[in-house]
Amino acid sequence: MNWKLAYAIGFHPWEDTDPPFASKLADLFDREERGRESPYGRALDLGTGSGIWGIQLAKRGWQVTGLDIADKALRRARDRMQKAGVEMRLVHGDVTALRAAGIGSGFRLVLDTGTFHDLNSAQRGAMGQEVSAVAASDATVLLLVWPKRSRPLIRGADRDEVEAAFPGWKVTDVEPSHFRLPKILELLLKPDEHWYRLRRK
Ligand SMILES: C[S@@+](CC[C@H](N)C(=O)[O-])C[C@H]1O[C@@H](n2cnc3c(N)ncnc32)[C@H](O)[C@@H]1O
Repeated sequence: MNWKLAYAIGFHPWEDTDPPFASKLADLFDREERGRESPYGRALDLGTGSGIWGIQLAKRGWQVTGLDIADKALRRARDRMQKAGVEMRLVHGDVTALRAAGIGSGFRLVLDTGTFHDLNSAQRGAMGQEVSAVAASDATVLLLVWPKRSRPLIRGADRDEVEAAFPGWKVTDVEPSHFRLPKILELLLKPDEHWYRLRRK
């Protein structure tokens, strides 16, 4: 997927999520917050795009950094953040070079709503290494993944590819995200999207 072009032409159907997707994601956030008091610590929204989910985390009491390679997406995120009246640090950077992006470390929650599964194998390995370097020892990683399949636009990834990219981590749960695309895109792309939850071994 050419993400910069997608934002330039206003193609971002992943932003039109419906209530079942948002509700499932809220359940996943609840799980990471259970038994703790706000503020919950540092959260990293990888491939933050227009900042939709990073802003949700900030509203819930996380100290959020959102990172993306697309300038236009980051501009949209800044506007959205200002309208929402919350603070979130926005950084231009690549998920395969997080340390070079100067975001620091100690992230207790790492969220990726759709970046990992379109990377190639070398990029996925680099992302796994970089996440391991910046995440706290008790961190959770939440990855949104479409299964690998021959389809336009998104490569997809299978469980063994997630595990190979995150060798120091254990997949604790794989659950449907309840994401639905508009009907024609749903038939064409068959996302069958799932949340992968990872914790350190
Ligand atoms: C499917 S979109 C999801 C955007 C946002 N998280 C959301 O759910 O609305 C994937 C995002 O990952 C970003 N991205 C893709 N490859 C990246 C990379 N190597 N480093 C940083 N961001 C990347 C794209 O620019 C895009 O904003």
